[in-house]
Amino acid sequence: MNTTLLETTAHALVTPGKGILAADESAGTCERRFTAVGVESTEENRRKYRQILVTSPAIRDRLSGIIFFEETLWQKTDDGRLFTDVLAENGVLPGIKLDQGLQDLPGFPGEKVSAGLDSLATRIEPFAKAGAKFAKWRSVIAIGEGIPTQTCIDANSYVLARYARICQEFDVVPIVEPEVLFDGTHTIERCEEVTANVYDSVFAAMSRYRVHLPGAVLKTGMVLPGKDSGAEMDHAAVAVATVRTLVRHVPKELGGVVFLSGGQTPKDAFTNLNRIAQLGPHPWGVTFSYSRGIQDPVLKTWAKNTADPTAASDIYARMLQIASDSRKGILDESMDIDAFVSRSQDL
Ligand code: 13P
Repeated sequence: MNTTLLETTAHALVTPGKGILAADESAGTCERRFTAVGVESTEENRRKYRQILVTSPAIRDRLSGIIFFEETLWQKTDDGRLFTDVLAENGVLPGIKLDQGLQDLPGFPGEKVSAGLDSLATRIEPFAKAGAKFAKWRSVIAIGEGIPTQTCIDANSYVLARYARICQEFDVVPIVEPEVLFDGTHTIERCEEVTANVYDSVFAAMSRYRVHLPGAVLKTGMVLPGKDSGAEMDHAAVAVATVRTLVRHVPKELGGVVFLSGGQTPKDAFTNLNRIAQLGPHPWGVTFSYSRGIQDPVLKTWAKNTADPTAASDIYARMLQIASDSRKGILDESMDIDAFVSRSQDL
């Protein structure tokens, strides 16, 4: 394990002004998202759509990395260039999703554990050889009546820690993602309590399994009131609670912290990130690693005319500008991002 290389990669992922695009939707998730906008989810359609995300000149200054699903790591542009080579030309690192989805945790209704650990040591090698410099593994923790249980949190922490250490053996930086779900009627205080407990458990497990923390990155949700709680989204309160929980429960030597958008509207996801950035400097580089928050308007715009990617590519460049401004804490919050997003989809 090359700790210097791991640290350099982790540091690069949270470069000031840049962030990560999560474009690693599994075949099943892609099927759902493509069907919702009336496009058939064939391998060729997924390639054509993701080509837009990879070939935009806007990625050079706004993205540090793009996370791919397995098939994408070997896909090529229309003119025959590997997507990974296009990223390299733009100084953007390719990453790979390594978990194999979620399974029920028997005996614990409503709780899940992430799958794929047993085969990981053999699966990871071809991805590392194909140029993946970092990886992602997502576990989910749901909040509800009587959940999460400590058993569920500990089971997922164990899996995340073992995954992280296996990645590091291959000089691949692990992004460790214990996502506390936004769904539910819980308060922001309850989200903070659960998130703090999850961080404590995950970092205790990472320490037990000898993960090199400066060569690893945390991917997390923000501390939010539940989506169905009826509470207003108070951006200042979200930023303060999110930063407080990170500072109290995440080791300072970790390589970086990135956020998922988690089903927030683009306006909320970017305004919250902007406020979090304004509370810095933080002990780690802190940036975005959004899928839906960036891609939703791009996919919907492309679906209107899959033969011509120009409009989708323009929207993508605008979303990356918004993301980068938010990461720097200089977002123009008077801009109605949600209205801009829905207008763009009407194109
Ligand atoms: P969202 O930004 O859509 O939450 O997705 C991020 C992600 O990669 C979840 O694993």
